[in-house]
Amino acid sequence: MQRIVAPSMLSADFGHLERDTRMVDASAAEWVHIDVMDGVFVPNISFGFPVLKAIRKATAKFLDVHLMIVSPEKYVARFAEAGADLVTFHLEATDDPARCVALIRRAGAKAGVSVKPATPVEALREVLPLVDLVLVMSVEPGFGGQSFIPGSLEKIAQLRAMAREMGLETIIEVDGGISARNAGAVYGAGADVLVAGSSVFGAEDPQAEVVKMLNA
Ligand code: DX5
Ligand code: ZN
Repeated sequence: MQRIVAPSMLSADFGHLERDTRMVDASAAEWVHIDVMDGVFVPNISFGFPVLKAIRKATAKFLDVHLMIVSPEKYVARFAEAGADLVTFHLEATDDPARCVALIRRAGAKAGVSVKPATPVEALREVLPLVDLVLVMSVEPGFGGQSFIPGSLEKIAQLRAMAREMGLETIIEVDGGISARNAGAVYGAGADVLVAGSSVFGAEDPQAEVVKMLNA
């Protein structure tokens, strides 16, 4: 199984966005995670297209865009055009996940779907064959720096089993409260990609922290 770390730019210093993006670019992290929040789907507002474009200019790495917004179908194509390699929308935010996936693919990006902690794995059954990736939230979306919800490990294992049973090689990404301390357990439960914001950017040596997570 592959192991990827995706530092979340939400925890970067936005006064030095280019510097922090280049630091991640020079690290062992293969992906860069971008959290877009609209103040409606989640009780917080982060940033949108101009910031994504600035990050795109400063790195050639795989840009993983996590949309925490209502009506994602209105914007998914624009995020792909602004430089996202993967666009992930929330299952809870749309009535038509298949249409979101089609719009993302038509714009040339990979498609992901995310679920909040209270949404059961079973709710993903229909959309699973359509997407490249499922992003399992291991905290309530909206803020960095929260604690990992322990029940997420069981959820990851259930999702891995469901994908296997359906004959799918779905990429499983996990987001929220992850550090070198629990990374081994999260990969062990069946995750491929771990998002880490505060643990990476809050570390004395963020690049070393990424390596610690990969080797956890
Ligand atoms: C939370 C975001 C996360 C967040 C993770 O809504 O989706 O990507 O930045 O931050 P940490 O790693 O600090 O929990
Ligand atoms: Zn995220």
